[in-house]
Amino acid sequence: MISYKELGLVNSRELFTKAVKGGYAIPAFNFNNMEQLQAIIAACVETKSPVILQVSSGARKYANQTLLRYMAQGAVEYAKELGCNIPIVLHLDHGDTLELCKSCIEYGFSSVMIDGSHHDYNKNVELTAQVVEYAHKYDVSVEGELGILAGVEDEVSAEHHTYTQPEEVQDFVQKTGVDSLAISIGTSHGAFKFKPGQNPEIRLDILAEIERRIPGFPIVLHGASSVPQDIVAQINQYGGKLKDSIGIPEEQLRAAAKSAVCKVNIDSDGRLAMTAAIRKTLFDNPAEFDPRKYLGPARDMLKALYIHKINNVLGSDGKASIND
Ligand code: G3H
Ligand code: 13P
Ligand code: ZN
Repeated sequence: MISYKELGLVNSRELFTKAVKGGYAIPAFNFNNMEQLQAIIAACVETKSPVILQVSSGARKYANQTLLRYMAQGAVEYAKELGCNIPIVLHLDHGDTLELCKSCIEYGFSSVMIDGSHHDYNKNVELTAQVVEYAHKYDVSVEGELGILAGVEDEVSAEHHTYTQPEEVQDFVQKTGVDSLAISIGTSHGAFKFKPGQNPEIRLDILAEIERRIPGFPIVLHGASSVPQDIVAQINQYGGKLKDSIGIPEEQLRAAAKSAVCKVNIDSDGRLAMTAAIRKTLFDNPAEFDPRKYLGPARDMLKALYIHKINNVLGSDGKASIND
C-alpha cells in the first residue's frame, strides 16, 4: 500500500472548497502517456493552476498501474523543477467497481470516482457508500454520479441524456458521504457530441436547482470538451476523416465554472489536438520517423490548448497557492 501523501499528491477536498468559493473550476485532464503528462504539468505550472490528473480504467490498463504511480510522483517533482509546487491530484475516472477503486488507492491515487450512474438509484447509493467508507479511511476523496450523460465512455454508450433529478441529490449526498457529485445537465462524452446546426445547451437552470438543494456542494461536469473546429479542420486537411461535429460552447462552460461546478473533465479536445499536430507534422515531413519529431509538436499543441482552457474557460489560473 502506497499512500498518495508519500508521492506528494493531494486529495481534492480543499481544492474544491476554494474553487466553489472563488468561482472557478479545477481542470481534470485525462492522460495515459508521458507527452500528455508533460503538457499538463507544463501548462499548469505556467498558469499557476492546480490540476487533477485523470486516469480511466482503460488508460490504467494501457499505461500500467506501477508506471502510473511513478509518473504521478514524477509529475510532482517535475512541477517543482519547473518552478511551482502546484497542488496535484491523481484521480480515477469512471471507476465501476469497489475492487478497482481499492486497487487505485493502494497504488497511490488520491481521489476516485465511483460511477454507479448506470445502476438503479438504490444500487448506486449502496455501491457509492461502500467506496466512500473504504476511501475515507485513507483520506482519499470520492466523486459519485447521478444522471446519465449521452456519448461514449469506456465501452458503455448512451444515446440520450438522462438529466440529473434535483430531487435526488440531497438524499444521495447524505446517504453516500461523497465529496463531490458529477451531474448530467447536457454535456456529453466523446468527440462526436452534436451535429453542426444543433444547439448544445448546458441546463444551467437544473444546475441552479441542484445548487439550491445542496448549497456550496462541489459539482463536477463530465463531457466538457468543445471540439474546436479549427483543430478538427486541421486533422481533416492533413489526411484525417473525422465526421462533422460540435461540442460544448466554451462560454457555457465558463458560466458553469463560476457556479458550484468546481471540476471540469476534458479528454477529447486533448486527443484531437495531439492528432492534429501529428498529422500535420507527418504530412509536411513524410520521411520523418523519429517519434520525438512528431510527438514534440503534439505536446506543444496540447500545452497551448490546456493553457487556453485554464485561462479562458475554467478560470483556475493563479489559484495554485494554498492561500488563494
Ligand atoms: O469519460 C471517459 C474518458 O474520456 C476516458 O476515455 O475510457 O477511452 O480512456 P477512455
Ligand atoms: P470529453 O469526452 O468531453 O473530453 O469528456 C471527458 C470526460 O468526461 C472524462 O471523464
Ligand atoms: Zn466522464
